[in-house]
Amino acid sequence: LAARPLTGVRVLLTAGPTREPLDPVRFLGNRSSGRMGFALAEALETLGARVTLIAGPTALPAPRVAERIDVETALEMHSAVMARAADCDLFVATAAVADYRPVEPAENKIKKNADALTLHLVRNPDILAEVAARPSPPFTVGFAAETDRVEEYARDKLTRKGLNMIAANHVGGERGGFERAENALTVIWRNGQRELPMMDKTRLARELAALIAERYQEHHAA
Ligand code: C5P
Repeated sequence: LAARPLTGVRVLLTAGPTREPLDPVRFLGNRSSGRMGFALAEALETLGARVTLIAGPTALPAPRVAERIDVETALEMHSAVMARAADCDLFVATAAVADYRPVEPAENKIKKNADALTLHLVRNPDILAEVAARPSPPFTVGFAAETDRVEEYARDKLTRKGLNMIAANHVGGERGGFERAENALTVIWRNGQRELPMMDKTRLARELAALIAERYQEHHAA
């Protein structure tokens, strides 16, 4: 059992970017490749968990997980998660969810007639915060991609969203983060933290999965 500490644990994990349609041919997106999330989903499954992966659009090969649900928009990801949130023990939000979406996608392709175009955007629901605010929430793990004051913003996010753990990474630098094969993480919980130095995302995912398992067990022992 020591090698598979998450045996019987039901995991729900979001990964990848979301796409917010502007019209039938265009969308607002972001640079998330989904790689970290897919690697983490596999690493958690390897530790014995039963992982349901809710994936935004990616070009990655299919990961070895129990179940996979493909979604496109933040609202679709939100409903896919909420429909399953009551039946999971551990929720891991690695997805780069769009903060805003166009109010109403245009029915037909937007024409380039005007010199300037204003887009009206509305806030998307915060999936992670909503799961963490449920009456008996699963153990929640979030991510924080920051360009500066990484630890401070991440700890604030941990408290504000009511999470059990947060994995923070420094983005926008030379190495690591979005569109990179490597990453480094500062993992933070209420009364502790650990640095996972720059390494290949597959290895990093294994180390993070082991740390999540450790904190998860500690949480349930308490
Ligand atoms: O607040 P911020 O977007 O920086 O928080 C990032 C964390 O919240 C990530 O774990 C991300 O997956 C999650 N998130 C979410 N739904 C959103 C926005 C972020 O689940 N609408």
